[in-house]
Amino acid sequence: MKPAPKTFHVKSFGCQMNVYDGDRMAELMTADGLVPAVDAASADLVVLNTCHIRERATDKVYSDIGRLRKGGKDPMIAVAGCVAQAEGAEIVARAKVDIVVGPQAYHNLPGLVARAVAGETALDTDMPVLSKFGALPARRRATPSAFLTVQEGCDKFCTYCVVPYTRGAEVSRPFAAIVDEARALVDAGAREITLLGQNVNAWTDGDYGLHDLIRALDRVSGLARIRYTTSHPNDMTQGLIDAHRDVESLMPFLHLPVQSGNDRVLRAMNRSHSRDSYLRILDRVRAARPDIALSGDFIVGFPGETDAEFQDTVRLCDQVGYAQAYSFKYSPRPGTPAADMAAQIPADVMDDRLQRLQAALNRDQQAFNAGTVGRRCQVLIERRGKLPGQMLGKSPWLQSVHLLTAAAIGDLVEVDLVRADPNSLSGVERVMAAA
Ligand code: SAH
Ligand code: SF4
Ligand code: F3S
Repeated sequence: MKPAPKTFHVKSFGCQMNVYDGDRMAELMTADGLVPAVDAASADLVVLNTCHIRERATDKVYSDIGRLRKGGKDPMIAVAGCVAQAEGAEIVARAKVDIVVGPQAYHNLPGLVARAVAGETALDTDMPVLSKFGALPARRRATPSAFLTVQEGCDKFCTYCVVPYTRGAEVSRPFAAIVDEARALVDAGAREITLLGQNVNAWTDGDYGLHDLIRALDRVSGLARIRYTTSHPNDMTQGLIDAHRDVESLMPFLHLPVQSGNDRVLRAMNRSHSRDSYLRILDRVRAARPDIALSGDFIVGFPGETDAEFQDTVRLCDQVGYAQAYSFKYSPRPGTPAADMAAQIPADVMDDRLQRLQAALNRDQQAFNAGTVGRRCQVLIERRGKLPGQMLGKSPWLQSVHLLTAAAIGDLVEVDLVRADPNSLSGVERVMAAA
């Protein structure tokens, strides 16, 4: 038995959907009468919202639990997120946490806390996705750039990936619920909304596809910018590509993971697209929106990957010219087919390939950023910079831009991009000439 917690802290790891879930858990605890603590060390209840995607992400959870236990406060600990779903009761046995709650069950958190207070095992890894959203409190707070989950889960079963097991099958939220949540976020101060899904472009409701949803959100007054992530090449419909041509509030940015540039590796990954079909999609996207910034995910050292096959990935990057990208060393995940494949790649070979790929991707990113110098665009101000009068925001192409301005957080400012540094750009506010 533990006393009922009065304060809480949510710590999220992993992808943007976990950030969204973390915010919603915080809203739920607040609605239940708990108060946010300044940090994990001073909270009565700590929610670790975990990620299972690579081995290192999972290990973090256990080191964090150890640190909290040593802190002297002995808080109530809830493990949420994808590790909770994957390991369930094992976590209770291994780390003696109070609550384990999966990503589709966190609307039950208040009841689980009550059970933990009563000294009962509090474990819930059921997957009733849609009732979860219905049971969460309405949105009342938002940052200028806000996330909105529209689709969860994955039916693609790439052979290296745990997501289909931790998030379950593909489920789309209803159109009306999403539009309502978008309106609430805008009323609470959001100017930009990023629609989230593990396969966001597979979102559907009746005859509607993601492009219909985007066109509807384009009409929400006060919403200036729409983004979406993450997409799968196989769900990149012509309707969605056309939206990039027609819908002004849809930002010129596309994150479209490819993972490898070699067809044999893509088949072994069960990616169901080829190097060529991926490149043809990008050609169509660029035809619709010539200035679009492209982003991708890459895995090096998939089992059996030869050096020549790896070179195909580097060549694909050179061909595409990504504006930004995420690249990872393959990490064998328990229960996935690739973990049992022959010819696992030694660590030093993976390190070397990752370095070579990242060098190529960095070159591409610098080139993209340099290519935007001289452009005029709007920047959404998101936070204060380090220098007096300096603000930081995002360009339409998702670059970080710093500028001197009297504008406030949440404002859209017209700027000229004047300089590209390795991780950000400098902008100069365009002062309107007096009439
Ligand atoms: N649904 C998205 C993102 C899934 S996870 C998609 O398909 O694009 C984000 C990224 O993590 C993946 O795109 C992949 O590049 C990487 N990833 C997934 N499983 C991995 C593993 N076992 N080892 C290394 N990287 C992995
Ligand atoms: Fe994982 Fe593949 Fe699904 Fe993406 S599409 S979540 S990489 S299984
Ligand atoms: Fe991690 Fe789960 Fe997201 S495994 S990447 S938190 S879907």
